[in-house]
Amino acid sequence: AGKPVVILGVFVADTAYRADRQPRMGETILGNSFKLGPGGKGSNQAVAAGKLGADITFLTRLGVDAFADMARQTWKAASVKSAAIETPDSYTGAAYIFVEEGSGNNAIIVSPGAAMLISPADIEAHAGLIRSAGVFVTQLEQPIDAALKALEVARGAGVTTILNPAPAASLPERIYTLCDYVTPNESEAEGLTGITVSSIDDARRAADNLLAKGVGTVIVTLGEKGALLHTKDRSDHVGAVDAGPVVETTGAGDAFNGGLAAALAKGIEPLEAVRFACAVAGISVTRPGTAPSMPTLQEVEALLARA
Ligand code: RIB
Ligand code: NA
Repeated sequence: AGKPVVILGVFVADTAYRADRQPRMGETILGNSFKLGPGGKGSNQAVAAGKLGADITFLTRLGVDAFADMARQTWKAASVKSAAIETPDSYTGAAYIFVEEGSGNNAIIVSPGAAMLISPADIEAHAGLIRSAGVFVTQLEQPIDAALKALEVARGAGVTTILNPAPAASLPERIYTLCDYVTPNESEAEGLTGITVSSIDDARRAADNLLAKGVGTVIVTLGEKGALLHTKDRSDHVGAVDAGPVVETTGAGDAFNGGLAAALAKGIEPLEAVRFACAVAGISVTRPGTAPSMPTLQEVEALLARA
């Protein structure tokens, strides 16, 4: 299983609507289908890591309601240990996901509910858990002050830290100096640096900008173009791993980050870890849903053996 992985983040129920297009303001259109399932970036990443065999604990806040039950069942099935703080006076959040029929592309509104109440004090109360990790991961769906505090605690204990800066947000400059890895996609890299990212060379320029802010290693995920692994000493482009026709790309970034964390926790070298993470993401996009589309270790190994 490797060293323990601890992920801080958000669980929400994903409500996914497939339709030919999005409604305009004031308009109602008929969708083609609806699906309810587990989501939230942090939880999706934890599920990915759990299915890959990592020793994984997920730290969050949940309401006390049906979606919280869905969260706990999801984690149990994926061997994710829960460090969820019950928040009876709030609710477990949900995401509206529009999936474009044909392309599988998406547009999302996420309302994190109880997870918006995750505070630096919660992080202090779970500092021992974070310090015991080999790899710590967070994203930006919960408040940034909590992410910052958690990265501080992890860094202080020599834990490998990964910040997946999603969804895009403006960040305190100090946060970069606490990150061994930052893993933006193209639009997040652009948001963080002001550099338009539409090619691998652009991604290199954006990654250099993030290195200058104090990040150890930048990994820019590039969708169907794979990923760029960039440090001050080297810059490697890793191609996407094709696992079949694309059904839904929602959660591909989470598959990548969960896969990356699981691989690094096993002591796998960064370049190979990125290739592994690309394969995890590659399988996830061939299946509907986010957390439910995460592959097992056997599936990833079989794909990499063929690729
Ligand atoms: O990254 C995909 C996730 O983002 C979805 O599961 C949705 O919940 C949103 O948070
Ligand atoms: Na998917």
